[in-house]
Amino acid sequence: MATMKAAVIHEPGGPEVLKLENIPIPTPKDDEVLIHVKAFGLNRSELFTRQGHSPGVKFPRVLGIEASGVVDKCPGGQFEPGQKVATAMGGMGRAFDGGYAEYTCVKASNVQALDTNLDWTIIGAVPEMLQTAYGSLFKALHLTPKDRLLVRGGTTSVGLAAAAIAKNHGCFVASTSRNSSQATADLLKKSGVDQVIVDDGKVAAQVKDHKFDKVLELIGTVTLEDSLQCAVGGGIVCMTGIVGNKWTFDSFAPMDVIPNTVCLTVYSGGPDEFKETPLNDLLKQIEDGTLPVQVGKVFKLDQIVEAHDTMEKNLARGKIVVLTE
Ligand SMILES: NC(=O)c1ccc[n+]([C@@H]2O[C@H](COP(=O)([O-])OP(=O)(O)OC[C@H]3O[C@@H](n4cnc5c(N)ncnc54)[C@H](OP(=O)(O)O)[C@@H]3O)[C@@H](O)[C@H]2O)c1
Repeated sequence: MATMKAAVIHEPGGPEVLKLENIPIPTPKDDEVLIHVKAFGLNRSELFTRQGHSPGVKFPRVLGIEASGVVDKCPGGQFEPGQKVATAMGGMGRAFDGGYAEYTCVKASNVQALDTNLDWTIIGAVPEMLQTAYGSLFKALHLTPKDRLLVRGGTTSVGLAAAAIAKNHGCFVASTSRNSSQATADLLKKSGVDQVIVDDGKVAAQVKDHKFDKVLELIGTVTLEDSLQCAVGGGIVCMTGIVGNKWTFDSFAPMDVIPNTVCLTVYSGGPDEFKETPLNDLLKQIEDGTLPVQVGKVFKLDQIVEAHDTMEKNLARGKIVVLTE
């Protein structure tokens, strides 16, 4: 039986529970594609799953909610062997084995064909990151070119991508970071950010004279109340991320927390949102140099423990990408 290298977890825990093993290469059914994985991005939801906070996930499991690579086998003929593709979500790395491997087998309906000559490092960075940024901006925030956008959690990989997409769309973009270093300001500016705001927990006080039409909240409930105060009347605040690790409000009095006429929404991308993301258009913009994408750190599959440790310690400053060869 043909085997592949995969990062398997048998029990929840720290980064060290990710074990590189040889396991059988899956066999695709007629509605599936076997992808020879070239690269995959790391996601914080995988960190939660690794820590045992995804109750539906049974171990052992190969983590990884996304992957990019080339089609190895596609018995139903939906894709050609050798075609470049990307996939994300749909149960990957949760209900069935995911992208932390040399091969992954997914539903053909959850695959996008890619037309790009970019490096695998860049291709591997984008599927989930761009899906999340693009969906938050356009499906949830209904971003228009005249909008002033605030990204709360601007140095997250999603925040950096959102700033770049919004800037390309014509928006004025402000982004927050807790870090006041010049290197952080430079990173944000490289992604098209016009105004860098050091997040002291009270950003609303800093922006009270010039509020924002749209606010993308990536820190979560720890900053959401303050972020709501950053929006103009009729503006929209979308909570997409929770890097602050707190999922709920301790108490929630909507009429106290939500300012008059401000709209509060959330974005939670799934397989449909992934399929609707114009990945090839965005990859073309990256290729043309008009959409800057920040890859923070690149690892090999056998460095998966170090890669997870880097994510957990917030050391990447951009998307973490793992190459399988
Ligand atoms: N809704 C969806 O469909 C969807 C999809 C994908 C991801 N997400 C979520 O989007 C968020 C961003 O993901 P990502 O992978 O882009 O994150 P990431 O790159 O790993 O974010 C790292 C950055 O987050 C900031 N940070 C970390 N802990 C923080 C804390 N306690 N308080 C404030 N800031 C903190 C740090 O920035 P500074 O040090 O500069 O402040 C750090 O550099 C995550 O919550 C993820 O789960 C949602």
